[in-house]
Amino acid sequence: MKPAEIDKEKLLSIIEAYRNKKWGLIPLLQAIQEEFGYVPPVAVESVADAMKMYPSHVQGVITFYAGFSTEPKGRCVLKVCRGTACHVKGGKSILRMIQKDLGLKEGETSIDYQFTLETAACLGACFVAPAMMVNRDYFGKLSPPKVTSVLEQYRKDKGDN
Ligand code: FES
Repeated sequence: MKPAEIDKEKLLSIIEAYRNKKWGLIPLLQAIQEEFGYVPPVAVESVADAMKMYPSHVQGVITFYAGFSTEPKGRCVLKVCRGTACHVKGGKSILRMIQKDLGLKEGETSIDYQFTLETAACLGACFVAPAMMVNRDYFGKLSPPKVTSVLEQYRKDKGDN
């Protein structure tokens, strides 16, 4: 199901909380992304106004930092590690398995907006390689059965969060 329309009142109240704050741009964009799962393009003009910047500057910052997205993401965002420690422990086949299971390539979101598949250079969990995250939860020592069970769990949780 496509994400609901942006609650503009909520968006404006977040922006107002950061108005004229020095060095507030990045925290403001983070707060918006935290609330909506992405930085909606409609936010750019108001953010620029609150920060006393040009909209092109705000857009440039959003584009520069890979952590910001201007597209809605899935309910479950999977980040599969492609780092060296995970690679040597079979991370590549874990990624391939997930791609096949979800029918997604890196950076893609399922048409029902349930899953987004991303990769990361290192999740900081090398000691449990191969590792991945789903939203804020870490999963390590991944094996094909474990991946199947994790994906099943998130499919079951549909609509619960
Ligand atoms: S290399 Fe995968 S968590 Fe660090």
